[in-house]
Amino acid sequence: MKQTEKIPRMRTGQASNADKNARGKDRQHAAKLTPPPELRPGQSVALLQELHILTREGKLNQDSRRKLKQVDHLFQFIEKLLVDLKPHGDELTLADHGAGKSYLGFIIYDLHFKARGSGSIYGIETRSELVERSRQLAERLSFDRMHFLAMSAAASTNDTQIPEAIDVVTALHACDTATDEAIAFGLAKRAQAMVLVPCCQAEVAACLRQSKALQFARTPLAELWRHPLHTREMGSQLTNVLRCLYLESQGYQVTVTELVGWEHSMKNELIIARWTGHKKRAAAERLRALLAEFGLEELLKTRFVLQP
Ligand SMILES: C[S@@+](CC[C@H](N)C(=O)[O-])C[C@H]1O[C@@H](n2cnc3c(N)ncnc32)[C@H](O)[C@@H]1O
Repeated sequence: MKQTEKIPRMRTGQASNADKNARGKDRQHAAKLTPPPELRPGQSVALLQELHILTREGKLNQDSRRKLKQVDHLFQFIEKLLVDLKPHGDELTLADHGAGKSYLGFIIYDLHFKARGSGSIYGIETRSELVERSRQLAERLSFDRMHFLAMSAAASTNDTQIPEAIDVVTALHACDTATDEAIAFGLAKRAQAMVLVPCCQAEVAACLRQSKALQFARTPLAELWRHPLHTREMGSQLTNVLRCLYLESQGYQVTVTELVGWEHSMKNELIIARWTGHKKRAAAERLRALLAEFGLEELLKTRFVLQP
């Protein structure tokens, strides 16, 4: 099912001719600037200026250096997948969850989809003002195959504006359980690859906190989350371990690595899952056992629903 044409990419007719001329001049100005060495060949200076990664003079904005480094590094992993994949349908599709200002989506489009000449990116974000800004930016840059939806990752799974199958799912620092929603989306859309850099996650830590008394009586390992700070850290660590087991149990091969050096980001774990179709039974068993050990079995009904 192809439904991309249904999505209003932005409300047109809002910019005056004077505005358009000014933007045209800005783009000409951007084209004349010498890009800083951190940029890739062909990377759009105008886009990076719009994202405030580059200043008007074409210099790297110091505050954004870290973001560029993260996104650029992540792109290198994603690019390999995009080149290798055979799309489900006629064109490659990618959905980016918790898109925020859509740095990642725009950079993927600029560096891959533009030259590819086909394929669509869907940016999913709950904050409607960010979605509107991204729509307007895509219009200004003529990034015609970028679509933005103001909704949660969970709601997007059943939204008819998104194709039934999506090839690649990304989620960079999608807040709290949005990464889990992105995984559920990826499973429902038969994603061939998922690239996740989780943010902090509060759900598992909250469950650990609730069952603390019981856990301390049960196992000395509960010392690992006795102090509140440790509960939070342990919750995040455990969540990512559970996510990996879940993905393996559902037919994905998983690799876990660092996104960039720790000096660039604290939320630095990169999970790459590639569909192989081999649903590891041992991973499902481990997942069940781990959830039981931590008193988290309830999550089998919500986050980690095991499909045989
Ligand atoms: C930390 S920001 C990251 C933004 C972007 N991915 C980046 O790295 O620059 C997380 C974004 O996720 C959005 N968000 C939170 N919960 C969400 C959900 N359930 N579904 C979709 N987006 C969500 C927030 O509004 C926020 O813009």
